[in-house]
Amino acid sequence: MATVLKSLHILITFFMFLKQFALSQEENQFIFNGFNGTNLHLNGIAKIQPNGLLELTNTSKRQIGRAFFPFPLKFNKSSSDRSDSLSFSTNFVFAMVPETIHSSGHGIAFTISPNMELPGAVASQYFGLFNSSSNGLFSNHVFAIELDTVQSPEFADINGSHVGVDVNSLTSLESAPATYFAEDEGENKSLDFFSGNPMQLWIDYEEVEKLLNVTLAPIRSNKPSRPLLSRSIDLSTYLLDSMYVGFSSSTGELAGNHYILGWSFSKTGKAQSLDYSKLPSLPPPRNSKSKADLRIIVPSITVIALLVTISGGAYVIRRKKYEEIREDWEKEYGPQRFSYKDLYKATKGFKEKEMLGSGGFGSVYKGVLPSSNEQVAVKRISHDSKQGMKEFVAEIASMGRLRHRNLVQLLGYCRRKGELLLVYDYMPNGSLDKFLFSNSKPNLNWAQRFRILKGVASALLYLHEEWEQVVLHRDVKASNILLDANFNGRLADFGLAKLYDHGTNPQTTRVVGTLGYIAPELARTGKATTCTDVFGFGTFMLEIACGRKPLEPQLEPEETILADWVLELWKAGAILDASDARLEGSFVAEEMELVLKLGLLCTNPIAANRPTTRQVVQYLDGNFTLPEMPLECANTMTIEHRAYTDCAVSLPTSYEENSGSANSFSSSISILSTGR
Ligand SMILES: *[C@@H]1O[C@H](CO)[C@@H](O)[C@H](O)[C@H]1NC(C)=O
Ligand SMILES: *[C@@H]1O[C@H](CO)[C@@H](O)[C@H](O)[C@H]1NC(C)=O
Ligand SMILES: *[C@@H]1O[C@H](CO)[C@@H](O)[C@H](O)[C@H]1NC(C)=O
Ligand SMILES: *[C@@H]1O[C@H](CO)[C@@H](O)[C@H](O)[C@H]1NC(C)=O
Ligand SMILES: *[C@@H]1O[C@H](CO)[C@@H](O)[C@H](O)[C@H]1NC(C)=O
Ligand SMILES: *[C@@H]1O[C@H](CO)[C@@H](O)[C@H](O)[C@H]1NC(C)=O
Ligand SMILES: *[C@@H]1O[C@H](CO)[C@@H](O)[C@H](O)[C@H]1NC(C)=O
Ligand SMILES: *[C@@H]1O[C@H](CO)[C@@H](O)[C@H](O)[C@H]1NC(C)=O
Ligand SMILES: *[C@@H]1O[C@H](CO)[C@@H](O)[C@H](O)[C@H]1NC(C)=O
Repeated sequence: MATVLKSLHILITFFMFLKQFALSQEENQFIFNGFNGTNLHLNGIAKIQPNGLLELTNTSKRQIGRAFFPFPLKFNKSSSDRSDSLSFSTNFVFAMVPETIHSSGHGIAFTISPNMELPGAVASQYFGLFNSSSNGLFSNHVFAIELDTVQSPEFADINGSHVGVDVNSLTSLESAPATYFAEDEGENKSLDFFSGNPMQLWIDYEEVEKLLNVTLAPIRSNKPSRPLLSRSIDLSTYLLDSMYVGFSSSTGELAGNHYILGWSFSKTGKAQSLDYSKLPSLPPPRNSKSKADLRIIVPSITVIALLVTISGGAYVIRRKKYEEIREDWEKEYGPQRFSYKDLYKATKGFKEKEMLGSGGFGSVYKGVLPSSNEQVAVKRISHDSKQGMKEFVAEIASMGRLRHRNLVQLLGYCRRKGELLLVYDYMPNGSLDKFLFSNSKPNLNWAQRFRILKGVASALLYLHEEWEQVVLHRDVKASNILLDANFNGRLADFGLAKLYDHGTNPQTTRVVGTLGYIAPELARTGKATTCTDVFGFGTFMLEIACGRKPLEPQLEPEETILADWVLELWKAGAILDASDARLEGSFVAEEMELVLKLGLLCTNPIAANRPTTRQVVQYLDGNFTLPEMPLECANTMTIEHRAYTDCAVSLPTSYEENSGSANSFSSSISILSTGR
């Protein structure tokens, strides 16, 4: 019996081997004019529609959809067989149908990868290829051509609609806006990725020349003679001997349907051309769909009426539980809107156990979105007034488009009666103040602290100067800095303090911020500026360096105000004595001194004497040396001695690498040389 089974097994193995062999003959070349009946390996939400259309993603948010040719191909640099070489040629027809006009995310990546699952990879701007820790690693061995519809500054994306060459990282080696060379006109023409129209892409790599060409064109036009991107690259450095080819696509806050209509691939010479007449058609455009649906709606009303009568009671209760406020003007923010039901489920009904913290603005809950299993933080703010809600939601929507590696990403919002819910990326390591001021968390070493400072400074610069609008944070402090899994500092709650401005009680002008971080002029005038943010950041720098809060009333009077205490130590020539005792003296003295002195400069009571955000970044990055400052100026810097004497420090105003400014103050005592 056993021998029969055994020989049967051998027979089966043999047939399987034969099958593999036959397939491997074809594997060097394949063509799919539509995908009906094909055995592509699909994962995520990818599916093949009945008409043969490959839908990588639909408009569900934060999803990944992939499709790979199910067998590995040989990219064998040492083989003499041409079909095993690194050369390949492929072309495919794709379409990206945005969820709403001019907002689609995130795009499609033609992918060559060592496996079909890409474990650990995430959606949104990562295209289902990497995550924040794997992005950029040589060990990824992933090559991709991205068709990207969202500009992510963290990857230095050039614009919101581009093609890029990615090797192991989403920071493209080279990229170009979506254009093609129109032969007839003899000029480059723009292609609109958001049009929802099918387009073609050709990717050709020649091993001998080590040249990669990427060429884009609208459907039905011939391949343009000039590629969009032509780049010399040695793929032998990156690819393994055996690789899978396919597509990875993702949606984020912005979503769209990503489709592949046909795909041709060859490892021996040029890929065959697709037969356009055989390609599946796209579903009808979204806006005309509502009309078509009308026919179905009319008869089904009777059915619904019947159902409502049956389940009436339960339905009303459910509706109340998940009731939201949605107004007409909110339609345009559709993509940023979460349903209350989803948030309720994500946080297990806002269970106390899921609460991460609570503060002036309300409570924060940890949640897992039911649709994507993504971890989020949901902030629940009570907000009774309708006043200013429209502007505020508009601001939330625009803040949702902020992208910076040191900002906690705002994912969207939801609104109910008396309540506003904001949804953010979840930060596993919580807020920085817990690490600085309590013994419940491990100590942070100086390198970590300095890196956090630099990161937060660059996020503040992005908010103040590098985005399309100036965004004021208004409440920079240790408890508003969250730490991601890699201990990068991320600024949270940007712009949120403004909620009070639009707030519940319009009669009182409330100063927004936190005691100890509020610049004197803000307390006087109530007007927040980038200078008041710099003041807050200065206080934060001192907090990090000294490991204590800006105001500690229980301490000796001369130590109560952190900035004043540091200033006195500096004047006494012992500024490093202000450093956090928990660091046990292990820090880079120059950096510590820089942070303490820059912290003092930023907390100067005279707004005009504070450095700009850009200068703060430049000092921290070491591109500028801190200017010298006459010691008598120090006397004007205490909050208590606010009388202004005329000794404003002239700070460099341009970007040029600075060494000159030191000379202009050489007769005065240097802020750098007086330390200790
Ligand atoms: C897709 O394939 C199935 C069977 O494999 C067939 O019944 C169907 O007609 C095909 N559809 C198209 C559009 O070719
Ligand atoms: C997208 O596809 C997934 C998986 O098939 C499905 O669960 C989800 O409902 C779809 N979303 C939309 C908006 O059609
Ligand atoms: C690559 O080619 C070399 C030389 O022909 C051969 O020894 C090696 O086994 C090949 N590797 C693979 C994975 O086919
Ligand atoms: C990132 O991806 C890698 C695999 O590339 C995985 O090992 C790691 O756990 C992932 N990290 C996170 C934070 O998901
Ligand atoms: C991208 O840049 C191109 C050329 O500079 C421009 O025509 C196109 O409108 C830009 N697209 C977006 C979405 O910014
Ligand atoms: C890439 O484009 C250049 C310039 O048009 C052309 O000379 C070269 O032959 C192309 N290479 C491949 C592999 O298509
Ligand atoms: C057309 O685009 C190509 C590739 O992006 C570029 O090299 C070339 O300079 C452009 N030509 C014109 C006339 O703009
Ligand atoms: C920080 O977060 C990572 C990832 O969740 C976790 O493994 C680590 O234990 C956390 N560290 C601390 C000190 O909480
Ligand atoms: C600082 O200098 C580095 C190189 O030393 C440069 O890459 C960076 O852009 C500079 N930063 C600023 C803000 O000028």
